[in-house]
Amino acid sequence: MKIKSAEFVISNSDVAKCPKNTIPEYAFIGRSNVGKSSLINMLTNRKSLAKTSGRPGKTQLINHFIINKKWYLVDLPGYGYARVSKTAKKTFQKFITQYFFHREQLVTAFVLIDIRHKPQPIDLDFMIWMGENDIPFSIVFTKADKLKPKAITGHIEDYKTILLETWEEMPNYFITSSSKSIGKEELLQYIKNLNKTMISD
Ligand code: GTP
Ligand code: MG
Repeated sequence: MKIKSAEFVISNSDVAKCPKNTIPEYAFIGRSNVGKSSLINMLTNRKSLAKTSGRPGKTQLINHFIINKKWYLVDLPGYGYARVSKTAKKTFQKFITQYFFHREQLVTAFVLIDIRHKPQPIDLDFMIWMGENDIPFSIVFTKADKLKPKAITGHIEDYKTILLETWEEMPNYFITSSSKSIGKEELLQYIKNLNKTMISD
C-alpha cells in the first residue's frame, strides 16, 4: 500500500476526546521502548512523525495519526516501565484500558514484542487480558535486526509453544525491524486488506 499522506491529528489522555469519526483505526501497544513509535515512522516513511526515544516512557498519551486521509494509526504509551511513578503508571493503565474498552473503531491492535527476549510474563498477561476482553490483536515482533535468523526462529518457536498453551492457534504475527524496514510491506498489506472490509477505496 502506498502511503500518500500521514499527519498527526491529536493527543489525548481520555478516550472520550479521541476523534469522533468512525474511520478504521489500528493501535500499537507493548512495553515501553519496544519500538511502537518507531514502527509508526517506519510504516509511514517519516523520520519523526511519532516521537521516539532511547529512554523508555517517551509516549505518554493516545496519539492519533491519519493516513491517506482514510484511516488512523494510534501510538499508545507503553506498559511495564518501572521508572515512571506509580501514580503515572496507574493513570496510563486506566486510559489504555478505557481506550481498548471503548474505541469501537479499533479494527485490530498490534501487540509489539521485542524479539530479543524469551517470552515475558508481562506480554503474555497482556495478551491474555486482550483475549478475555475480546479485543482483536496481532503480534509484531520488533528489533529483528538485532538477532541472527536462527535466533529469531528459535524465539518465535518459544512464543508458539507458550501461546498455544492459552490459545487454540497462534495469533497472526509479523517480524519487523524499524531500522532496517523489515516487515513493512507485510504489515501494510495486512492493514490494506482489513481496510477493504471497512471502507471503499
Ligand atoms: P515508549 O514510547 O517509551 O513506550 O517506547 P516505544 O515503544 O514507542 O519505543 P520507541 O519507538 O521510542 O523506540 C525505543 C528505542 O528503540 C529507540 O532508541 C529506537 O531507536 C529503538 N528501536 C525501535 N525500533 C527498533 C528496531 O527495529 N531496531 C533497533 N535496533 N532499534 C529500534
Ligand atoms: Mg513511543
